[in-house]
Amino acid sequence: MGPAVDRFETEVAAAASVGFAHAVSSGTAAIHLALIALGVSPGDVVIVPSLTFVGSANPAVYCGAELWFVDSDPDTWTINPSLLQSAFDAAHSDGRRIGALIAVDIFGQCADYGEIQALCASYNVPLIEDAAEALGSTYRGEPAGSFGNVGVFSFNGNKIITTSGGGALVSNDQTLIDRCRHLSAQAREPELHYEHQEIGFNYRMSNVLAALGSAQLSTLEHRVAARRSVFARYEDLLGGVDGIAFMKEDSQGISNRWLTTLTIDAGKFGASNLDVVAALEAENIEARPILKPMHAQRVFRGNRMFGGSVAEHLFEDGLCLPSGTALTGDDLERVAAIVRRTGAG
Ligand SMILES: Cc1ncc(COP(=O)(O)O)c(C=O)c1O
Repeated sequence: MGPAVDRFETEVAAAASVGFAHAVSSGTAAIHLALIALGVSPGDVVIVPSLTFVGSANPAVYCGAELWFVDSDPDTWTINPSLLQSAFDAAHSDGRRIGALIAVDIFGQCADYGEIQALCASYNVPLIEDAAEALGSTYRGEPAGSFGNVGVFSFNGNKIITTSGGGALVSNDQTLIDRCRHLSAQAREPELHYEHQEIGFNYRMSNVLAALGSAQLSTLEHRVAARRSVFARYEDLLGGVDGIAFMKEDSQGISNRWLTTLTIDAGKFGASNLDVVAALEAENIEARPILKPMHAQRVFRGNRMFGGSVAEHLFEDGLCLPSGTALTGDDLERVAAIVRRTGAG
């Protein structure tokens, strides 16, 4: 593939404190390869938190598996372990095989892996950590990406490290990473001529993009600190406003605060999250509601859901503020002033 890919893979593995990494064309491709390498097959159940980006969920459908969704914990917004256990129990009593759990480190906050790993071990379910948004975060002192049988990062344009488009798989299981490497290169056999024994994918990362990733990865600590200070500044400016509640940081981890997210209680604040989005938009500033849960998406209508009210509430009341590290102190004050004004007006 080229020396830059080799170097980037070594660096990504080190960032996740694992032995091996494979760089690919997107986070979605990485999840797809992880599911195949873990043996997920048509008819299997794959469990995903409902509060996530669709890139976590779609690859299970590519594999012919059935997606079941689980609600979030109201404090951490990550997958709720007791509802997860209900889903495992339901699959067991229905005689369904669970091909994998994909736990998601949402907005940079690691899921509760102490609980999740114990559940996966006792129900014998492979764990994929979707750390697409969480490069540089930690849980109980260990880095995001290191908690599953395999972890996944995204280097999409909006992420903390970006190769414009890209992703990576990380694991201590060399056989699994080698299998993903083989599949990502059209499953080409090591022959002089082009020899194929199974269907593969064109999912590799190019050498040029890997060089970009490498250069940025060397500044990861600084990038995480910058995102955290964006979050902290917004919290200083808006934390005391009635009706505004910032996403809490789980005491077990340190989030990279990839996006600054909060909820707005419209009754107390005097305006809704969508009013704030419109007020910012009027000043040419982009903001968005929080992710619409998967179980509320038309494409997944009818899929099984465990709980649901927490993710629904976060979608109804949630807001993502501009969070890029290029924002200046003046920019943050301007955004906060518009938010305040919307509530007051
Ligand atoms: C939680 C999550 N999972 C998966 C993905 C998919 O990554 P990509 O866009 O690189 O395919 C993303 C982001 O884009 C994401 O935020």
